[in-house]
Amino acid sequence: MCGIVGIVGNGAVAGPLVEALRRLEYRGYDSAGIATLEHGRLARRRASGKLVNLEARLREEPLAGAIGIGHTRWATHGRPNETNAHPHATARLAVVHNGIIENFRELKHELEAKGVRFESETDTEVVAQLVSHAMDQGLGPVEAVAACLPRLRGAFALGFLFAGHDDLLVGARHGAPLAIGYGAGETYLGSDALALAPFTDALTYLEEGDWAILSRSGAEIRDIHGAVVQRPRQTIATQAYRIDKGNHRHFMAKEIHEQPEVVGRTLSHYVDLAQGRVALPEPLPFDFAKLSRLNITACGTAYYAGLVARYWFEQIARLPVEIDVASEARYREAPLERDGLTLVISQSGETADTLASLRYAKSQGQHSVCVVNVPTSTIARESSVALPTLAGPEIGVASTKAFSCQLTVLLCLAIAAGRARGTIDAAEERRLVDALITVPGLMADALARENEIEGLAREIAKARDVLYLGRGTSYPMAMEGALKLKEISYIHAEGYAAGELKHGPIALIDESVPVIVIAPHDAVFEKTVSNMQEVAARGGRIVLIGDAKGAAEHGLDTLATVTMPDLDPTVAPIVYAVPIQLVAYHTAVVMGKDVDQPRNLAKSVTVE
Ligand code: F6R
Repeated sequence: MCGIVGIVGNGAVAGPLVEALRRLEYRGYDSAGIATLEHGRLARRRASGKLVNLEARLREEPLAGAIGIGHTRWATHGRPNETNAHPHATARLAVVHNGIIENFRELKHELEAKGVRFESETDTEVVAQLVSHAMDQGLGPVEAVAACLPRLRGAFALGFLFAGHDDLLVGARHGAPLAIGYGAGETYLGSDALALAPFTDALTYLEEGDWAILSRSGAEIRDIHGAVVQRPRQTIATQAYRIDKGNHRHFMAKEIHEQPEVVGRTLSHYVDLAQGRVALPEPLPFDFAKLSRLNITACGTAYYAGLVARYWFEQIARLPVEIDVASEARYREAPLERDGLTLVISQSGETADTLASLRYAKSQGQHSVCVVNVPTSTIARESSVALPTLAGPEIGVASTKAFSCQLTVLLCLAIAAGRARGTIDAAEERRLVDALITVPGLMADALARENEIEGLAREIAKARDVLYLGRGTSYPMAMEGALKLKEISYIHAEGYAAGELKHGPIALIDESVPVIVIAPHDAVFEKTVSNMQEVAARGGRIVLIGDAKGAAEHGLDTLATVTMPDLDPTVAPIVYAVPIQLVAYHTAVVMGKDVDQPRNLAKSVTVE
């Protein structure tokens, strides 16, 4: 959450800073700001709301200067107004910050007692004042940062710009990602490779506790003890970081439509088509056959992917699964057996709670595997094995293509586990792989239902509450459907296990509550029909997302049926992700909501 960028450049940097912030807006869009040095003096422009507001501000009052820092904010401490917008500054320096300074109150009291006055409600301003105060005591900029960093508690990435120092930026990483980019006579700082992609493909990721001194000629990196260290320089395939909407109105629409392609690409990374078997991209440093259970942890949509995978691991590999949301898993102090396995799932690879759960599992002596979309992310680097989802950058805040690619990788992993544990034979593996191979084509068929779903969305848009029901793997899909709808349309929605309805939620049913039932014709279809009957008997309006066979069998009046292609029920969640996402997308569009940047959300949740 929050994106930061810095440039020590050759020409005017205000434009490039804004361009980088545009690529970081997925990390937050409550406010934005930049600061540069104009003839050695700090100058800044800030605006509440989205980046367009800052751009308008800069058109009225441009900023000159060949060195600067920028920020896009997801508010944690203090309202999203201009006063709380970054960069925060004193006469000596400006700072941008991603993360939380946990001991900011204590530091603020200390500084106030020394006569320092604060302007904003943020934790970040404490950093600006603390370093400035150290400089008042006679320290130079680099020494002042070095003296203050050990006093900060929490998870953060910081970028500093100093008045009178037009060839110096300082960046620091402690729990939130930060990369350094190298250009021709220019050096950059950024929260991720995406931000720096327009400028350079040569990057170094700072490691935990690292801080760096940047000038036009490069960067000196120091570790937590202040020792100069060398960190590897990587070349990033910048074409993979193109961000445009193509012919689509929103990134979310583009990303939904990309799914046949990216799921196909992901599959080809995990499946040996000639042999009809799963072939993981790298050997696993543990034996699935020796595991007594698998622990899975993740947040949000990635957690729902884990819930679907629980059915796969248990049914295909007969491997018991323990799963929890990462914000709980990290503090539950669950006993995890040494040499057991923890699997974490994350699109960004930076989610603070997921990362903390991974670290907890490692501290218990567990092996760790992550399924991750950003291969250079912290979670990817800290896991013993990183299994990539090849979805490409996901810009829409609501996760779509990353989710279907996560499911694809997880099913491949469950098949590999089944083979290792001897619970499936070669013929069954081939059958499952054959089913997987049909998925991209089936997703394309599902996308062809878009017009029908658009019509349905006009009905859903009138509702105040929507229930989603499903059984088996369709149960977590119901939760995912509800999450997708609520996060972008702001309609209240809940996903329930269909059999759980009569234990409470059925009290909500009347003609005003659409009930979206996700039910491929699988082993539990008939049971779900009984639950649909309970809804119908109470005047509930049913929308069935199912197949032609199921639609012909249930014999109930429905508000609408989205007829999905026939498929092997094992792969249904991956294909059914498409109509679920389209329902949410079109409902939000009909309602005129900001689909790609829904209120209060950010894509990379680096605070707990
Ligand atoms: C919902 C959504 C979020 C994320 C969650 C985890 O559409 O995108 O629920 O799934 O914040 O993020 P990652 O996968 O980056 O760990």
